[in-house]
Amino acid sequence: MTKCALITGGNRGIGLAIVDGLSKLGYKVLLGARDTEHAEQALTHIPSQDVHVVDMDLASEQSIADHFSRAVATYGDIDILINNAGINLDEPFLGSNMQKMQESMQVHVLAPMQLTKLTLPGMLERNFGRIVNLSSGYGSFYEGLAGPLNYSTSKAALNALTVTSAKTVENTNVKINAMCPGWVHTRMGGKDAPRTPEQGADTAIWLACIPEDGPNGMFFRDRTPIKW
Ligand SMILES: NC(=O)c1ccc[n+]([C@@H]2O[C@H](COP(=O)([O-])OP(=O)(O)OC[C@H]3O[C@@H](n4cnc5c(N)ncnc54)[C@H](OP(=O)(O)O)[C@@H]3O)[C@@H](O)[C@H]2O)c1
Repeated sequence: MTKCALITGGNRGIGLAIVDGLSKLGYKVLLGARDTEHAEQALTHIPSQDVHVVDMDLASEQSIADHFSRAVATYGDIDILINNAGINLDEPFLGSNMQKMQESMQVHVLAPMQLTKLTLPGMLERNFGRIVNLSSGYGSFYEGLAGPLNYSTSKAALNALTVTSAKTVENTNVKINAMCPGWVHTRMGGKDAPRTPEQGADTAIWLACIPEDGPNGMFFRDRTPIKW
């Protein structure tokens, strides 16, 4: 049966390139977006018939639960989950307010954790699942947590979530990994970034397609392991 992939923040940037890449590989793709009208427009650039826009606003636990159950009822079980949506709410540490950190943690940590918890039982039951968390070198202790406060802190927490959740699927055919796309020309990355969204999407697509003996609980850039 055709495997089904859900990509959050699939309406633009790296997410849209992942949608395009996985649909070209023959997967059924659910393009998660909080602005479904905008997402339908983005879809007109993608040739495949088997891509479907699903409302996936990650703002709150309740909205995620509601949208997820609606998506599964309409399109079936999720075999591949790509936690791609991201925000960069920059501010200096001393001038920071808790709101921006809460929003960053919601999108980068709590939403991926909730979606992982929602998809994992079915993946374990079917003994197949791939979860890819779009992280960043800015979330790496080894690379110095060199990004803005809210962004680096929440991506470091996403890295920790990747490691801890991956422990729960050891010795199964469910694989949970994180990756950094590099510096990519998107609304977040800006116009000076050297990489295209397709280049940024490559490692995420690769991780979505790894075989049963592939990695679990690891961090990648350019299909190569990097340090946390
Ligand atoms: N670009 C880079 O250089 C770079 C580098 C390292 C890591 N990354 C990571 O790669 C991922 C994709 O980044 P990108 O460059 O493609 O960013 P982007 O072009 O800014 O796209 C971000 C996506 O996330 C969605 N999103 C944000 N908040 C959301 C929410 N509450 N609910 C649902 N969707 C939400 C956006 O939806 P709307 O269109 O509705 O706003 C958009 O689809 C992110 O996790 C980012 O941190 C990017």
